[in-house]
Amino acid sequence: MKILVVGSGGREHALAWKLAQSPRVRQVFVAPGNGGTALAEDLRNVPIEVMDFKGLAEFALGEDIALTIVGPEAPLVEGIQAYFSSQGLACLAPTAEAAQLEGSKSYAKDFLKRNAIPTAESETFTEIYPAQQFARGLGLPVVIKADGLAAGKGVVVAQSEDEADQAIQDMLSGNAFGEAGSKVVVEAFLPGEEASFIVLADGEDYLVFASSQDHKAIYDGDQGPNTGGMGAYSPAPVVTDEVRQRVCEKIIAPTLAGLTKVGIRYTGFLYAGLMIDEDGNPRVIEFNCRFGDPETQPIMLRLESDLAEVCLAAVEHRLKDQQLIFTEEPALAVVVASAGYPQRYETGALITGLDEPRQSEVFHAGTALVEGELRVSGGRVVALVAKGASVSEAQAQVYRDLKQLQFAGRYFRTDIGYRAIAREQH
Ligand code: AMP
Ligand code: GLY
Repeated sequence: MKILVVGSGGREHALAWKLAQSPRVRQVFVAPGNGGTALAEDLRNVPIEVMDFKGLAEFALGEDIALTIVGPEAPLVEGIQAYFSSQGLACLAPTAEAAQLEGSKSYAKDFLKRNAIPTAESETFTEIYPAQQFARGLGLPVVIKADGLAAGKGVVVAQSEDEADQAIQDMLSGNAFGEAGSKVVVEAFLPGEEASFIVLADGEDYLVFASSQDHKAIYDGDQGPNTGGMGAYSPAPVVTDEVRQRVCEKIIAPTLAGLTKVGIRYTGFLYAGLMIDEDGNPRVIEFNCRFGDPETQPIMLRLESDLAEVCLAAVEHRLKDQQLIFTEEPALAVVVASAGYPQRYETGALITGLDEPRQSEVFHAGTALVEGELRVSGGRVVALVAKGASVSEAQAQVYRDLKQLQFAGRYFRTDIGYRAIAREQH
């Protein structure tokens, strides 16, 4: 079969890389893809943007694509699923209605409360003053979130009342996030350790991917502003077998059941961003209706099952008989960014050193092939990913291989995986 992957990031490169390994797959196309998917011999880029549903569907019909897999959230929230269905095309993606779980934080919080799924106490506001009053009542730190999609950057963990007041004012006065900030969610701070928990659902049954943990902050020690993610590893040591069981029972199953109750048969990837407290109790921080980026990269490296087969089974509602198998070996990804990211960053620099021998896989994100040369075209440029007998071995491998990769303004964190490595050393 032929498969179309929609998107252009590291997540899509990693998914396409894994899909292309399936003996059932004849060709994987990536729309629009990046410099890395352009260079990969077993992938083909198609110059169609992710929001051009008509163009994508015409391509899929013309090429006899058996399955389209959507990476990023924007086309999901805009209804790519319904459009593809209307053209008789199989598309692994939740509907626009279901994607509200990610597209609107207030929708997600209402949903969690209605279904008694553990999450932080919160309220949604459109007015500045009542939001500030509510934040006072929650104590410090307190979390302020813009309602809509803000590429992972619409969240402020305020350490002081002034900072909370300012964040609320910035978001609600429309200064900070435009439309995404016309409502804010004010939320109690949850202590604990974060983990990413991703499942594939077919409307009835679901399969659990290996757990993972990402580093959202730009600087070492998890300091500084949040980014889309600067590195990740799998598994997340905090997700023990017992915690995993609890997440399935208390979060995933009731979420899918709660959706079914309102007529939504959720089909696609569902990502729960969790906070796990000292006693191993999970709470939902957020939902995403897609795979995580950069969590996808280490998870795909560990996946032994045929991804194409399970994705096809998901759209055909037959996950019941499927399983996902992962190697025991942990995997770790380090994102290499362009200086300035997540604020303004330079593009256009020449990337060199990718031809050198190395153990790590390289998944591209913000790269473009310009007249045969690989150039920086985005904030997160590539991720290097390696497996190892331990997280520290995987980490050492990635940082060794990273030395060869050069471009002007290259920036990466030097401590990805430090929490997991500290546990290993105990
Ligand atoms: P979100 O976009 O909702 O995932 O939030 C981004 C990041 O902010 C999360 O990954 C957490 O690190 C942090 N965060 C969000 N909500 C909370 C919360 N209630 N308690 C503690 N940290 C939070
Ligand atoms: N790495 C977090 C996300 O994909 O939302």
